[in-house]
Parts: sequence; C-alpha cells; structure tokens
Amino acid sequence: MIVIKTDEEVKFIRQACMVASDTLRSVRSLVKPGISTNELDAYIENEILAKGAKPAFKGYRGYRHASCLSVNEEIVHGIPSKKVLKEGDIIGVDVGAIVNGYYGDVAETMPVGKIAKSAEKLLKATKECLYIAIKKAKRGARLGDISSAIEQYARSKGYNVVRDLFGHGVGKALHEDPLVPNFGKPGSGPKLEKGMTFAIEPMLNIGTGDIVTLDDGWTVITRDRQLSAHFEHTVLITEGDADILTKGVI
Ligand code: MF3
Ligand code: CO
Repeated sequence: MIVIKTDEEVKFIRQACMVASDTLRSVRSLVKPGISTNELDAYIENEILAKGAKPAFKGYRGYRHASCLSVNEEIVHGIPSKKVLKEGDIIGVDVGAIVNGYYGDVAETMPVGKIAKSAEKLLKATKECLYIAIKKAKRGARLGDISSAIEQYARSKGYNVVRDLFGHGVGKALHEDPLVPNFGKPGSGPKLEKGMTFAIEPMLNIGTGDIVTLDDGWTVITRDRQLSAHFEHTVLITEGDADILTKGVI
C-alpha cells in the first residue's frame, strides 16, 4: 500500500531530507585523494547529529554506519572502511536522516580529483537520468512512466541499468511501497497521487547490469567490475511538478 502523507508528515520528511542533502553536499569538498571512507562516514554522522537528526542507515538491518560509500565498481551499499580514495576514483555517497520518526534519503556519485572522460560521462548521464525521471513524477502519471524514462535515457547513452535494486517509498520507514524500478513500461504501475513521497535512484553501469553481493552481506558490485554510478532524490508528488525534497540549500 502506498501511503499518502499528510502535510504534517511531509513537514518532517522535508526536514529529514534537508539534513541528508545538506550533509551530502558538504561532503563534496572532502572527497579528495588521501581521505578514507571511514573518515567520510565519521564526518557524515557528526553532521547529521549536529543538525539534530539521526543517521537513518545506522542500525538498519544491522548496518553499522551512517552512510553507504561505494567506490568505482561498487554500485551501492559500500561499507565505510580504511579504504583510501585515490585520484581518478568515483564514489557514491548515500546519506539518510531521520527527523521525528520520518526519513529522508539522498545519494550522489562524486569524482575524486581528475577522473577519466568515460567516468565523467557516466556521472553526467546518471544525474541526467534522475532529473528526466523526476520530470515524469507528476500527479496522474504512472510509476512505469518514471521507470521507463530511466531505462530509455540510460540506453540512449549506451549504459545498462541495474535491474535488481530499486527506488522506494520514503516516510515513516526508509523503505516503503512502492518499489521504483529503473526499468519498465510507460503507462504501467500505480497512478501517482498528491502526497506520495518516494526515492528515485537510477544506477547506471558502463558494462552489463549484472550484480554481485560481496561476502560482507552489503556491498553490491558490478559482476564485470566495470564502473557504476548512482544518484538519488526523495521527491513529493504535488499538484504540479514533483517537489525535490532533497534538493537542499547548499
Ligand atoms: N539509501 C540506500 C537504500 O535506499 C541505503 C539503505 S541500506 C542501509 O537502499 F542499510 F545502509 F541503510
Ligand atoms: Co534509497
């Protein structure tokens, strides 16, 4: 069941999204060769707490960190570690926050120093994919319109989408209905209604869309070890264009 949020609930989701997105954006300036993903995670946790919120991922199904930090062939759910970033890497930074029991979820893949043209193109296309999808997130449209826009745009740029991981409703839980696939048919799926809040999160691969989950139980990588990028916004369906709750002010 897709929960329609009240104005009061949207207020808290918006605050959680703001904390998550401002935190995410402030990480950009720290992402440089020489910093470890543990250091980035510690910074993220402190920022979320300093803003009076709670890290949403910590404690979620036994996950022990405030962020997911996914480097190069890691698609999502990379676990912060002693791994040190180096020039040319790309890193997906995924941040969630809780305010008054309501969630916000946002992610962006960032370059580490100067990156290859091929990586730059992948980041650009994945970000564009997210914004094209958000344009489809209008009252009266179908969820499949969003999903198919992601798949079509990715294909048009020569990339494959990940088919085993999804966007999701966001509200009183990090993951609610509906699932938001990164592929699908226009005109299919549930009708979008005012007051729905969900995360749209395209994951694009240079190689095939196939994934492998590592033995740590979390880290999802590309089967062929080629690069993957991930961008995510939490959006609210309104009377008009979707409201990007994780747009942030920074
Ligand atoms: N933002 C991610 C998602 O929506 C992270 C959740 S996994 C977690 O899937 F355990 F780290 F929280
Ligand atoms: Co998410």
